[in-house]
Amino acid sequence: MIGIVSVFQVHDLFETDPKLIEKIISFWRLNMKAFGVKKLIIVNIDDLPVTCGDLEIEFEVYNTLEEVLKKYSDYTFVFLECAQQIEGIDFIPLKSFEHPADNVLYVFGSDYSVLNLSELKEKGYLEGNFVVSIETGSTIPLWAHTAMSIVLYDRKVKLSDSNE
Ligand SMILES: C[S@@+](CC[C@H](N)C(=O)[O-])C[C@H]1O[C@@H](n2cnc3c(N)ncnc32)[C@H](O)[C@@H]1O
Repeated sequence: MIGIVSVFQVHDLFETDPKLIEKIISFWRLNMKAFGVKKLIIVNIDDLPVTCGDLEIEFEVYNTLEEVLKKYSDYTFVFLECAQQIEGIDFIPLKSFEHPADNVLYVFGSDYSVLNLSELKEKGYLEGNFVVSIETGSTIPLWAHTAMSIVLYDRKVKLSDSNE
């Protein structure tokens, strides 16, 4: 099973508007579905009213990333982060990353913060898992759901090539 983990936070202005939150969730779920990925895990750190009315999506919500890491400890986690945010931590450029064939969760930080990779490393959560960066050639971060689409496309191209 291939899944997406989105650490979900929105700008303060959106917090009171469930329709805007639903819209942002739709960016994730539609782009995932385009690549045949149906599991979406939201890490709802701000306790926002997140919902997903799409019955084709296996939707799960947790309050912390650590809960997800524990629940899916038999999965491989691939943490996506901008290169400039991952000083001191080994990472693989997406271009040379070999995607695990199955049972993998791709983790994306929120658009208003970054993944705390140093803490994950200290707690041992990077062992056996991967940190991957999309090399855009600039320091401008991508919207997290855009990064997801690039990663899923890369996965599709590389895995279908290896099956030929
Ligand atoms: C918009 S970024 C966070 C940007 C942060 N607010 C900043 O100013 O640096 C949100 C998430 O998108 C993903 N992301 C964005 N650009 C990326 C890249 N070039 N490579 C890998 N992941 C990326 C990461 O998961 C990141 O945590």
